[in-house]
Amino acid sequence: MPVIKALLCSVTAVLVLGTAGACSGVPEAEVVEADRGTIGIALPTTTSPRWVADGESMVRQFELLGYRTELVYGEDDVKGQISQLRAMIAKRDRALVIGSIDGGALKDVLAEAAAAKIPVIAYDRLIRDTGDLGYYATFDNFRVGVMQAAHIVEALDLAEGGGTDTVELFAGSADDNNATFFFNGAMSVLRPYLDSGRLRVVSGETSFAKVATQRWDGAVAKKRMERLLAGPLAGERLDAVLSPYDGISRGVLEALKAAGYGSARKLPVITGQDAEIDSVKLIAAGEQSQTVYKDTRELAKVAVQMTNSLLTGGKPEVNDTTQYDNGVKVVPAFLLQPVNVDKSNYRRVLVDGGYYTADQLSSK
Ligand code: GAL
Repeated sequence: MPVIKALLCSVTAVLVLGTAGACSGVPEAEVVEADRGTIGIALPTTTSPRWVADGESMVRQFELLGYRTELVYGEDDVKGQISQLRAMIAKRDRALVIGSIDGGALKDVLAEAAAAKIPVIAYDRLIRDTGDLGYYATFDNFRVGVMQAAHIVEALDLAEGGGTDTVELFAGSADDNNATFFFNGAMSVLRPYLDSGRLRVVSGETSFAKVATQRWDGAVAKKRMERLLAGPLAGERLDAVLSPYDGISRGVLEALKAAGYGSARKLPVITGQDAEIDSVKLIAAGEQSQTVYKDTRELAKVAVQMTNSLLTGGKPEVNDTTQYDNGVKVVPAFLLQPVNVDKSNYRRVLVDGGYYTADQLSSK
């Protein structure tokens, strides 16, 4: 159904872009078709609530702009995600927005998209080893790691000197480019304390390869924590766990509790990311110490805006053209800022900010 573009713009400029310039230059009475084709959105998994929220936000915002959407989840099956993308290309979707499962596995399918002249935007996770990726919408991933480590430094008063505190390190999935950024960001803060001996990794497992957690799986992290507790950590005190993501934090916490932490012994400081409801409840209960909140509604806006710009002959707005070298090119990116959340501010940030209702955080 045709709509007056000027009207569409006045609504979407506020709802989708939050900027005034989005529709500048559009003649008042220009009429466009409301159906502007289908955007394929391929996200990694529904097991983590954030990706579900990301998908819903993008669908809502694309629809406001007159696009149809096809939203699919790969459920952490790399080949399955490739098939999903092939199906979208075969149907000639107008653009693909991809939150990859394995960021290094999409080179061939992106070449097929390029051959079909379908632009591709990487959503939150960089797609590597391809020149066929247009843009990247994400958060300042290095800073996420900095925030997690800074929380440990503050909670343990590391800057005060004196004594030795202990930490164990966990990283995300090695096939997700973000995992290295989070880890490097965190280590940039922790390294001086490890070098000076103020902080000690009792297990000695400090390399990214050793501490990575395949598919960000909490159960995998739980097993590793159990192994450490039964081995090198037996009889030792554990003061902190660097965890890159709430699902991993909860797995670690389960292992710690089963070993007597939180009852016979004080729980260590445990970081996280994504402000998942289950983890925010644990923060309120004093069990998980911190998370990094990334407003997925904002990320969805950025990705939708980038896609719409590309499809309407514009140039997507970016604010980083140096950090995200995918092995073939430096991918122009828009980085949003993450927010540190702990017991002192979770209500203000997450409830007053409208991300969750107070009921959602209090329900069992
Ligand atoms: C990362 C993402 C994190 C977290 C993690 C596990 O790529 O940046 O926010 O969601 O995946 O899903």
